[in-house]
Amino acid sequence: MKPKGEKITMLTAYDYVTAGLVDEAGVPLILVGDSLGMVVLGYESTIPVTMEEMLHHTRAVVRGTKKAMVIGDMPFMTYHVSVDDALRNAARFIQEGGAQAVKLEGGVNVAEKVKRIVDCGMPVMGHIGLTPQSIHQLGGFKVQGKTPQAAQKLLDDARALEEAGAFSIVLETVPAPLATLITQKVSVPTIGIGAGIGCDGQVQVINDILGSFTDFVPRHAKQYANLTDIIKKAITDYHEEVKAGKFPTGKQSFSMDEGILDGLK
Ligand code: KIV
Repeated sequence: MKPKGEKITMLTAYDYVTAGLVDEAGVPLILVGDSLGMVVLGYESTIPVTMEEMLHHTRAVVRGTKKAMVIGDMPFMTYHVSVDDALRNAARFIQEGGAQAVKLEGGVNVAEKVKRIVDCGMPVMGHIGLTPQSIHQLGGFKVQGKTPQAAQKLLDDARALEEAGAFSIVLETVPAPLATLITQKVSVPTIGIGAGIGCDGQVQVINDILGSFTDFVPRHAKQYANLTDIIKKAITDYHEEVKAGKFPTGKQSFSMDEGILDGLK
């Protein structure tokens, strides 16, 4: 798609039903992001997310997906300690989770691991810029690559990932002109989130575009729906109807032969 100039869409999904909807809409890439930790599991960051949690949700997404490529997001410290660790955990996403690819955060610092995973036949998506697993080092959710050194580092990271065999690179919260330059300098597609229109594709956390997670709405997110209000209204209506004895009606109930009932009485 990159050589043809066709924009690439990616969305996160964490469950069977949502994955099915994303897939049916024709979105070609589904990321089971470790954002799961924040938007589904209620953690304050992505750092507590475990392999078991990721695998559980990856399997559900895979079951709901017919066409899209499912990418499993490797959680914090599951690919840092050693190449062996990285290989084993990447393989779990493919073998146990049923994903077709994995994503991991970092550039030059993870290039060797990316190469070894790719050498074993597992496609890898890179992720640079604002990498939430390093949030304590980055000092918060801030735009990355704003100084000459930081911008050069991002370009070096992107090139290192390309060289290591990554099939695509997520650019998160990077100034739009820098993301455009990186996109021009690497042959693999860049997928932006808060990185402007010049990337080859875009990714969003599904809860952000659906308005179903409102604890924290990043500036780069656009709400295409407000599910929180719709869900709240449905729950309130149900609650009130049960209390008022208005639900269920005959329409939601089942009848039986009165004779059988008389016998029981
Ligand atoms: O975990 C996630 O959802 C991500 C995307 C924001 C790229 O890494």
